[in-house]
Amino acid sequence: MSFIGMNKFDLDTPTYCIDLDVLETNIQKMAKTIIGKGMQWRPHEKCHKTPAIAWKQIQAGAIGVTCAKVSEAEVMAAAGIRDILIANMIVGEKKWERVASLCRSADPIIAVDHFAQAEPLAQICHKHGVAPRVIIEMDIGLNRVGARPGSHTLELAQAISKLKGVKFVGVMGYEGHLLSVEDQAEKRKQIFSAMDMLIQSRDAMVKSGVCCDIVSAGGTGSFQITSDYTGGVTELQAGGGIFADPLYRNHMALKDLDYSLSVLATVVSRPALDRAVLDSGRKTLNPDHEPPVVKGRPDAKMIRMSAEHCELSLGKESQNLKIGDKIELIPGYADFTTVMHDQFFGFRGDRLEAIWPILGRGKLQ
Ligand SMILES: Cc1ncc(COP(=O)(O)O)c(C=O)c1O
Repeated sequence: MSFIGMNKFDLDTPTYCIDLDVLETNIQKMAKTIIGKGMQWRPHEKCHKTPAIAWKQIQAGAIGVTCAKVSEAEVMAAAGIRDILIANMIVGEKKWERVASLCRSADPIIAVDHFAQAEPLAQICHKHGVAPRVIIEMDIGLNRVGARPGSHTLELAQAISKLKGVKFVGVMGYEGHLLSVEDQAEKRKQIFSAMDMLIQSRDAMVKSGVCCDIVSAGGTGSFQITSDYTGGVTELQAGGGIFADPLYRNHMALKDLDYSLSVLATVVSRPALDRAVLDSGRKTLNPDHEPPVVKGRPDAKMIRMSAEHCELSLGKESQNLKIGDKIELIPGYADFTTVMHDQFFGFRGDRLEAIWPILGRGKLQ
């Protein structure tokens, strides 16, 4: 039986839904903000893990994708995407072998922050006759991973550029520690200082004869500012803005993009006039980081979630909800909810237009 053409509210629940008009508008707006200001767009795919969506971003002008895992990159490569940045530390012989194999179908870039990752990767790739691109992840203040700015990064770049089996191409840094700075002028100042660290390293490399073509940064909570930086950042990794989750809009000043994602849920119990219980609990929608928003019902609020139940408190306007009614919850942060679903259901208005398998689901290695 084909579901295509069905009305959203006739589908069984829980269902993971995308409003295609809003998604496409968000994609166009992100592309315009980034590419329109002269940078390339390499969106992180962790919010959707879905080749069909990555292709929509590429059709809008993205050069490829950013992934967190080798197995995610394999999924994207199998879907025909070639330019893939794995913006994460890749460690272990099995993974380095997989990177070498990936080079047969794609042109990946692998992030490193130490020679101990780069050297064995290069040895294995050289043995297989391939040479993936390598980028140094720098710590520009996030204090997670990353080579230290200054001589540490420069010496690492010089050492990597001498290796056979990899091709050194540049630097990246994620300004993730600055996303929630409230004062927007201060946020801009701090983001630009963080970008300066990348550019100073690039300049030092070029001066010492090391080619540094790529300077990669950016996320959804910052790209509307980082894209204004004119010092030489070449590409931005912002991805999650295509869904414009409440987390970004409420805490990171994301503007001009709308919610495109929802979980369609059914009211399964009405224990009190001011309470409703939905069939979509923590195994359907992860409320960590930011609770879900009840679409179109501002006086309904999530108060508790257990494995299979989501409990809402209802203001006067929402007390007409009945057992069997279907309503939509906008996940607070899509990344943690996408990983629980097999498919996105894409709607044009309320009509089901596409079902996209989340092929990167479970790809954690
Ligand atoms: C390396 C890296 N780049 C970019 C991002 C931004 O991703 P998004 O735009 O989906 O928030 C993240 C977020 O965690 C990240 O870790």
